Amino acid sequence: MLHLIFGLLAYLQLAAAVAQPRPIEPVQPRQSIPPHLPGNWSAVASGCYSDSQTFRTLRGAAKTDEVGMTVESCIAFCDDLGFVWAGVEYGKECYCGNLVAYGNPTFLAECNQPCTGNPAQSCGAAFRMNLFWKGILPPSSPATIGNSLWRFEGCFRDTVSVRTLPFRASTSGPTTPASCANACRDAGMPYMGLEYGFECWCGQTLSQTLLVSTYECDTVCTNDHAHVCGADNRLTVYRHDALPPVTYPTGCTSVASPRFRLSSKYKEPPVEGPEQFQLKVVEAYSAGAGIGWSVLSACTTCTSPWDYLIYSPENNVLVTQSFSTSAPPIQVSVTLWDGESPVFQTKSTLPPDYGGYAGYCETTNPYTGNGPHLLRGNGDVDKWALCRNNTADGRLDVVLKPRTGHPHYDTRDCGAIDIRITGA
Ligand SMILES: *[C@@H]1O[C@H](CO)[C@@H](O)[C@H](O)[C@H]1NC(C)=O
Ligand SMILES: *[C@@H]1O[C@H](CO)[C@@H](O)[C@H](O)[C@H]1NC(C)=O
Repeated sequence: MLHLIFGLLAYLQLAAAVAQPRPIEPVQPRQSIPPHLPGNWSAVASGCYSDSQTFRTLRGAAKTDEVGMTVESCIAFCDDLGFVWAGVEYGKECYCGNLVAYGNPTFLAECNQPCTGNPAQSCGAAFRMNLFWKGILPPSSPATIGNSLWRFEGCFRDTVSVRTLPFRASTSGPTTPASCANACRDAGMPYMGLEYGFECWCGQTLSQTLLVSTYECDTVCTNDHAHVCGADNRLTVYRHDALPPVTYPTGCTSVASPRFRLSSKYKEPPVEGPEQFQLKVVEAYSAGAGIGWSVLSACTTCTSPWDYLIYSPENNVLVTQSFSTSAPPIQVSVTLWDGESPVFQTKSTLPPDYGGYAGYCETTNPYTGNGPHLLRGNGDVDKWALCRNNTADGRLDVVLKPRTGHPHYDTRDCGAIDIRITGA
């Protein structure tokens, strides 16, 4: 009996020993970060970052997916939009950016909410995100763009009520830093800025007091993922190195008529259609109230608000004039680039000290020695053409030295012309 009691005691002691609390083992989170991510994407070392509603850690783009959010789908969403950072939060939210703007690393265990599209994966938690990086530097603003005449000035603040650059330009084709630069150049404006991914703005002046950190312009251009196009109320600004060059062409003769019209004459008479056209300065862009810019065209269906042209100053700037007092403000020649149409802009929107592009003049007819005087552009008399402009419903526009690969015309749709000067 005693044996039995001792035996029982011993058993109970043993049982008690077995029942001792065991050391606490770390509880493995049910969710984890997938080991294989697309491309060179990887989880950021500390993994879990804080976020807040007012100061978003990643503020480039966002989406919510109540049922299908996964780490991979969020990364794909951000990657497609050109972002190098991606973060999953609150089980169903995905954020992208090119700048970790706010937030701090926290314990990885704080990101413990399952993804709605894959409960085995971790998708952050409330105001906690699992952060991922593509492994490359974000898109940037190149020091110069296009023909390298445009130089990066910095990231500038903008407001809807007072615009930092006042003219919203419509670019031909998708808005990119390059197409915006062209639009502002055609408008004769030395500053151009990109905002909110796809907005193009131009202006004459810029206040340096609005300059902010370059990193605040962190929105990838919607149509050019290698570059940054400002942000919300932030402008990526470039400045044109100089206003269009002022050239004084040679071979000019004295002006036959103080005011005149221009007409084109094909060098090779066309198989069908007229051989000559009256040329007109036709509006290509209007910002309202007679503010805008125009091109020289042979368009037969267009009306031009100007009746004739004059030279000013020193004979080399073309200026529009009208017989009517209700005509819109005069426009002056602003650019004449190879492969482009002669461009005119409302004088009041140009800097007061800029008189116009002085690349035009009158010359005696080199073929006949007399005959109607001809127009020279940048010194050349025999480089004009009429080209069918695809971006303007096939309008026949004047082009100086047509070039292949132009986005607005095909050189096969161009015909060489002389531009005749006739008295008005
Ligand atoms: C990953 O990085 C390597 C080395 O920088 C690079 O050669 C490769 O193209 C990258 N892969 C992708 C998919 O971006
Ligand atoms: C073609 O039309 C567009 C739109 O009006 C204009 O911006 C451009 O100057 C025209 N000419 C050429 C050569 O692109």
